Amino acid sequence: MRGVVLISGSGSNLQAIIDQANNIDLDVSCVISSHADAYGLTRAEKANIPTHVIDHTEFDSREDFDQAVSKTIDQYNPDIVILAGFMRIFTEAFAQHYCGKMLNIHPSLLPKFQGLNTHQRAIDAGESEHGVSIHFVTAKLDGGPIIAQSRVAILADDNSSSLAKRVLVEEHKLFPKVIHWFTQGRLKLENDNAVLDGKIL
Ligand code: GRF
Repeated sequence: MRGVVLISGSGSNLQAIIDQANNIDLDVSCVISSHADAYGLTRAEKANIPTHVIDHTEFDSREDFDQAVSKTIDQYNPDIVILAGFMRIFTEAFAQHYCGKMLNIHPSLLPKFQGLNTHQRAIDAGESEHGVSIHFVTAKLDGGPIIAQSRVAILADDNSSSLAKRVLVEEHKLFPKVIHWFTQGRLKLENDNAVLDGKIL
């Protein structure tokens, strides 16, 4: 299956996907970054994957930015669109356009801690556990149907970076696994539910 990956930063999830690409039947057609200095672009280049930078600061409106991103994605006619640390909020029209084939990874146990700074917020809230969620993207920010989660315990001496590090280890295992479900045709979005092997998750 052909996939386009969108990033904004380090791209460690992108790396996990690239490393597993053969095993999960994924051909990464291109990587799109909203930031020109994202290290993920270097990772893509090293893997001979075409890259595009679409800098959101160069657009007057969210609609114009989304249109530019869509235009680039659609050139590759992907079967799956993978948001791997892409730090922009999309318009409803964009989410609608890729409905059922766009996945996002979010570093919290959704529905808890949508948005930013999730690790610090989980610590501040006195949570005993934290983790990562992968969900279908619908028009609701971080609110589409959840496909899978991994949990980590929050330790007494954790700070946001020590916690983020342990969550990332789980992210790198979970995302390729979920993408594989999708490329195998086992995972679908049906009536706003995430469905795996015919069962609602
Ligand atoms: C990850 O924590 C991901 O869950 C979040 O942004 C971070 C991206 O990290 N959406 P990386 O760029 O994949 O290293």
